[in-house]
Amino acid sequence: MPKPTSIFVCQNCGAQSRKWVGRCFECGEWDSMVEEKPRPTPSADQKRLTADVEAPQPITQIQASEEERIRTGIAELDRILGGGIVPGSAVLIGGDPGIGKSTLLLQAANEVSRQGYRSLYVTGEESLLQTKLRADRLGTASDNLLLVAETDMDIILSHIGQVKPSLVVMDSIQMAYKSDLESSPGSVSQVRECAGQMVYLAKRTGIPVFLIGHVTKAGAIAGPRVLEHMVDTVLYFEGDKYQSFRILRAVKNRFGSTNEIAVFEMRHDGLKEVANPSHLFLSRREHAPPGSAVVPCLEGTRALLVEIQALTARATFGMPERKVSGVDRNRVSMLLAVLDKRAGMQLGGQDVFVNVVGGVQVDEPGADLGIALAIASSFREKRVPPDVAVVGEIGLGGEVRGVSQIETRLKEAEKLGFKQALVPTDNRGGAKPSALRLAFVASLSEALEVLT
Ligand code: TYD
Ligand code: MG
Repeated sequence: MPKPTSIFVCQNCGAQSRKWVGRCFECGEWDSMVEEKPRPTPSADQKRLTADVEAPQPITQIQASEEERIRTGIAELDRILGGGIVPGSAVLIGGDPGIGKSTLLLQAANEVSRQGYRSLYVTGEESLLQTKLRADRLGTASDNLLLVAETDMDIILSHIGQVKPSLVVMDSIQMAYKSDLESSPGSVSQVRECAGQMVYLAKRTGIPVFLIGHVTKAGAIAGPRVLEHMVDTVLYFEGDKYQSFRILRAVKNRFGSTNEIAVFEMRHDGLKEVANPSHLFLSRREHAPPGSAVVPCLEGTRALLVEIQALTARATFGMPERKVSGVDRNRVSMLLAVLDKRAGMQLGGQDVFVNVVGGVQVDEPGADLGIALAIASSFREKRVPPDVAVVGEIGLGGEVRGVSQIETRLKEAEKLGFKQALVPTDNRGGAKPSALRLAFVASLSEALEVLT
């Protein structure tokens, strides 16, 4: 029996409970509750930190200028950060293992040190030799870039105190631990505590810190979601490990916009910026056969362009097949019925396959119009023009309903080089003028006219 003083913390979302439960009541993850001991009394070190706190100052006395930002020299990264690294900021970079987090930050730390700033790269996952080999591959080397392989937080802080760098990279925050905490490294309380100390260091000394964090399958930065609240900026690195393109996306930024994305290509000599990602995205679409539609979807607060593909083929025997991946099967059945009834498409004798490219899961009704158009496009052998993005929910009457955050979605489509968008008439008020040509549609049959 656990002691009554201990608490249980979900390793996925950080929810806490007094007693053990098999399934987290917050995020629904199974078997994620881990017992953690209460925090020890503050160490001498922490007491010292709190002893020399600064007195409150009048806001008018605090100097601030945009020039103080440190440019990383990687233009796309600077842009995502809102124009460079803000002194005293804490940035969390999340992403799947192997996606390129270490590569990007080593490149950034090196570029920063080339400008004469001293950078400290703390590696907890790889040895100094491994990091050096990587640096050689990246063609990076500067005396101002200091490396240390360490995971003990107290030692890391003392290194920072000695080196007095202008930038610290912590690779990764999950490897760091504080020896005076009883819980094991990587546990929620360890990660939270270590991240807290790094953030505190950044705020107190003005040294910007980058924390690398691994992402769980569910897409949360592993263990504590709480980290996201503690830092100023959260960047996610996305993309298929087996393809060379990577998207860096700001999901939170106290010093810039969160609608920004940057596209990189992983090459043998590191990550290279892709200056014109829309071009890249469209070049693949230009020769797409009928049966495809691109939808600006929302994933939480962020917009993501997804391509929905459909194929209809005459069913040869028995019951026609409906095979669906990445979208809800019931939703597709409903859309097929609407296409049949409201647009007169006889799909009853057709096998229908629907797939979302790249293995993404799309759960929102805003993708309805995209799914319906992809199916209709394949059935009629006519294309949705490759530079048109479509969005809208479809009702049983064949009406197209408005979607939330239309501006965010259109901005994403515009950024990726789309020229036109089919938008629900309901959203007319919310869609601000932009470079995209907007065609407002109130019904499915109106939307079908886009097929050429
Ligand atoms: P890495 O930065 O180690 O990923 P993370 O820190 O997010 O786990 O990236 C590792 C992958 O990148 C690995 O599969 C090898 C590949 N890679 C290149 O293709 N080119 C390069 O120049 C480097 C350094 C890595
Ligand atoms: Mg790494």
